[in-house]
Amino acid sequence: MKEIGIFYGSTMGETEEAAEMIADVIGKDKAEVYNVGSVTVDEVEKYDKLIFGSSTWGLGELQDDWDTFIEKLKTLDLSNKKVALFGLGDQAMYSDTFVDAMGIIYDVVKEKGAEVIGGVLADDYDFNHSEALINDAFVGLPLDNNSQGDLTEERIRNWVDDLLKAF
Ligand SMILES: Cc1cc2nc3c(=O)[nH]c(=O)nc-3n(C[C@H](O)[C@H](O)[C@H](O)COP(=O)(O)O)c2cc1C
Repeated sequence: MKEIGIFYGSTMGETEEAAEMIADVIGKDKAEVYNVGSVTVDEVEKYDKLIFGSSTWGLGELQDDWDTFIEKLKTLDLSNKKVALFGLGDQAMYSDTFVDAMGIIYDVVKEKGAEVIGGVLADDYDFNHSEALINDAFVGLPLDNNSQGDLTEERIRNWVDDLLKAF
């Protein structure tokens, strides 16, 4: 059994690709990747170290497959688990709801007792508002393949470095 479970929801494949890249950087021997559209939350219970990823759709909504999954997540006790979050979004087109889905997942996992790790300073992003922001830091890693795609790989590498120390 691998050490870290990565769970993502993805409509056009961007979040899926990021999840796979995160797993590659962590090491495929240590991280297993799951699509929330095709697994049950029983898989979540197996891990003490978790990474959740969602893109944001509509205006500040969860990716579709997360809708059901998050309701099931609310039935779990996540205390004693460490959770890191990442979110795909578009800060230019959706500047008022940038990576909001990450904030929605954050609220649920905190409520269920998880320790959330892997926050990221907002300095390198240019947006109006985000539900995933607390003071000057995001609750996880925002990735924007639409307007800052050239930064994605480096952001993932730096973030994973920090995560592996915090897990
Ligand atoms: C109709 C539509 C609505 C979107 N709404 C938001 C939004 O509210 N906030 C945001 O940050 N990004 C938003 N996005 C950008 C997507 O989150 C982004 O394209 C992401 O990379 C898609 O990832 P996925 O392929 O994994 O679903 C939206 C994109 C579309 C096409």
